Amino acid sequence: MPTIKEILNTMDYGPAPESTKEALAWLDQHGRRFGLFIDNAWSEAAETFATNNPADGSELAQVTQATQDDVERAVAAARRAQPGWVALGGHGRAKIMYALSRLLQKHARLFAVLETLDNGKTIRETRDADLPLAARHFYHHAGWAQLQSEEFADYRAVGVVGQIVPWNFPLLMLAWKIAPALAAGNTVVFKPAEYTPLTALLFAELCQRAGVPAGVVNIVTGDGRVGEAIVNHPGIDKIAFTGSTEVGRLIRKATAGSGKKLSLELGGKSPFIVFDDADLDAAVEGLVDSIWFNQGQVCCAGSRLLVQESIYERFIGKVKARMQNLRVGSPLDKSNDIGALVDPVQQQRIHGLVESARAEGCEVWQPSVELATTGSWYLPTLITGASTSAAVAQAEIFGPVLVAMSFRTPLEAVQLANNTVYGLAACVWSESISLALDVVPQIKAGVVWINTANQFDAACGFGGYKESGYGREGGKEGMYEYLTPLAEDARPSAPLVAEKAKAKPVQEDSPFAVDRTAKLYIGGKQARPDGAYSRAINGANGDFLADIGEGSRKDIRNAVEAAHKAAGWTKATAHNRAQVLYYIAENLAIRADEFAQRIAQQTGSKDAAREVAASIERLFYWAAWADKYDGAAHQPPMHGITVALNEAVGVIGIVCPNENPLLGFISLVAPALALGNRVVAVPSEQHPLSAIDLYQVLDTSDLPGGALNIVTGSADELARTLATHGDIDAVWRHDGSAEGCAEVERLSSESLKRTWTGGAKGRDWFDPKQACGRTVLQHASQVKNVWIPYGV
Ligand code: NAI
Repeated sequence: MPTIKEILNTMDYGPAPESTKEALAWLDQHGRRFGLFIDNAWSEAAETFATNNPADGSELAQVTQATQDDVERAVAAARRAQPGWVALGGHGRAKIMYALSRLLQKHARLFAVLETLDNGKTIRETRDADLPLAARHFYHHAGWAQLQSEEFADYRAVGVVGQIVPWNFPLLMLAWKIAPALAAGNTVVFKPAEYTPLTALLFAELCQRAGVPAGVVNIVTGDGRVGEAIVNHPGIDKIAFTGSTEVGRLIRKATAGSGKKLSLELGGKSPFIVFDDADLDAAVEGLVDSIWFNQGQVCCAGSRLLVQESIYERFIGKVKARMQNLRVGSPLDKSNDIGALVDPVQQQRIHGLVESARAEGCEVWQPSVELATTGSWYLPTLITGASTSAAVAQAEIFGPVLVAMSFRTPLEAVQLANNTVYGLAACVWSESISLALDVVPQIKAGVVWINTANQFDAACGFGGYKESGYGREGGKEGMYEYLTPLAEDARPSAPLVAEKAKAKPVQEDSPFAVDRTAKLYIGGKQARPDGAYSRAINGANGDFLADIGEGSRKDIRNAVEAAHKAAGWTKATAHNRAQVLYYIAENLAIRADEFAQRIAQQTGSKDAAREVAASIERLFYWAAWADKYDGAAHQPPMHGITVALNEAVGVIGIVCPNENPLLGFISLVAPALALGNRVVAVPSEQHPLSAIDLYQVLDTSDLPGGALNIVTGSADELARTLATHGDIDAVWRHDGSAEGCAEVERLSSESLKRTWTGGAKGRDWFDPKQACGRTVLQHASQVKNVWIPYGV
């Protein structure tokens, strides 16, 4: 009698093909040739290109390469439709979005098969992941449409949104983009990736059936040139992009100075960390979901395996054993785990990277599995022995390739995890909740999964840190990406110049008048400018007031270094940070008269005393927020919670406004500090003395050295240096210089810093609606979503 094990060993999977009948019939219905979907109508297909089935290379259909004129028509249709879509009201939009989600569910199998045909991913994934999640997105966002007037009463829709997505999750990315945009009252011009346009075109038909009004959803197909035309179109108010970091950079540059809102969801090289106390078998299964889901063509794929040294060999053994059992083959076979890569181009790219690792002496391991001879395939691959700086350890491979390394201590694990330009996601595997939760805040990534991997839900924000982009998709934070605060519309068209009183002569006995060559403030100390240059500052009546230090590149570098050393400020408790801000306010209040006098000397403002009082109040305001900007505990459909943490952005460079030299400075610097950021501030170029006078206040207020650094000088020069500095995480510029703001946005593209710029418009710094509130909190923070499943 054979044993059960022997019987199991002789058993094999039979073929379990999914039928393509319906999907092919749908393609045939369209004559396998598709126009564009604009204003609720199909255009004639003019210039077309083929979209192929990557599993066998066969052509599925011809799809239109949209022209500049087509994009014009789509934007015009979206523009015309937008007021009506808003006027429909939250409930009106919710009903239509609900209908869309119901229709998606009703036709789930057709969509799943079509997606598998067009993309090459397995039917198991399209059926069990892509489709349910896409439908869930429309349900969830139908809810936001319903609640909009209550939850987003101080906001309006952005307007017309251009949305560009990649090929790895064609329908799911469409849902992530279109659902929040529509919920908020925007209309869209949507471009699917050239490799995978079919499910977007099928979705267009659902829009017609769900009663989406003409022009609300427009779908234009084509390659990067169509994307470019959307990005550059002046009639578009926001661009939402998912794709490569390289194209993300181009889009950041192209939109610089245009006033277009921008969210970028870019690449990743996410760590998968396994501690020695982890449930190793569960971790292996998590790893399969993490790196071999969708052939590894996932922006948040756990492509860097970091295993604690003591279990490294054992764990790698288990991984290899599991890899040997992964079933690679026809994506339409329901029992296959790994399907085809989207295109032979990707196959060649992956092959090139893996072979370069082999040539560098790395060990490359692949299971012995036979692959089909036609179509684009790649075996699950494990690379060991790579150095931390090797291309395979740093570049986003976007394929089924795992690079493994070991670490000794949790600290080393964190260092390795953060040793990347990206910051999209991470997995942490440990049975010790205190170890896992200690590691989570130290990892620079927008999503962290504890003892699980690649979980997504419409209620939980998704998006990156660092060069993985900015903005979030999903949840409430994702909705803000498609909304504009009403207070933005109330901003004056140019900086407000204060009403002048008769200027007073400079008071020689002022304590601020002692040192007439004011220095910079770096690392908690006054520092001479590196270049030993100074510039004269005159008062409103033309009198000389003081020489100030002319800050240079080197001074900014020193300030950034000091800011990085002041990491304790970020780790300090929110209560501590609030205490320091209150203390600054208290010490400022003691010198209120001198500060008012200084403002009057510089600007001639007759409102100087009011400006000081408002500055003190503003410090109280941000001190109040320091320990109240709580995150959220989401309830995704799993046994567990997802905790959204509001974290500091890091080091922020801030170019302050010229008007209201004290209030403007404090209105920007205080919220950044309140949320734990460290700051390099460039005070008003015209009236820098109010910020300089603050040095003494800061010295007596327990602000740790380096948390706030102040560099005076040319706003343009210093902003340029801030925007190009590799170790600054965000730059804010609010001095009314349209050119300067555009330049900051353009230069920030290199390291994909976040920016907050005011453009040429002014801001009433006295008005809390324009200068305070959630928008500022959002600029001063980034959300990390931490997934914590329960149970064993
Ligand atoms: P891609 O970034 O070039 O394409 C993404 C989308 O952007 C497509 O719809 C494309 O037509 C469009 N596009 C291309 N150039 C554009 C431009 N100048 N302006 C506006 N839109 C433009 O990504 P691609 O070429 O498909 O893949 C290349 C590599 O990018 C992959 O191997 C992978 O490493 C990475 N990638 C990362 C993704 C992610 O989700 N993080 C998604 C897709 C690709």
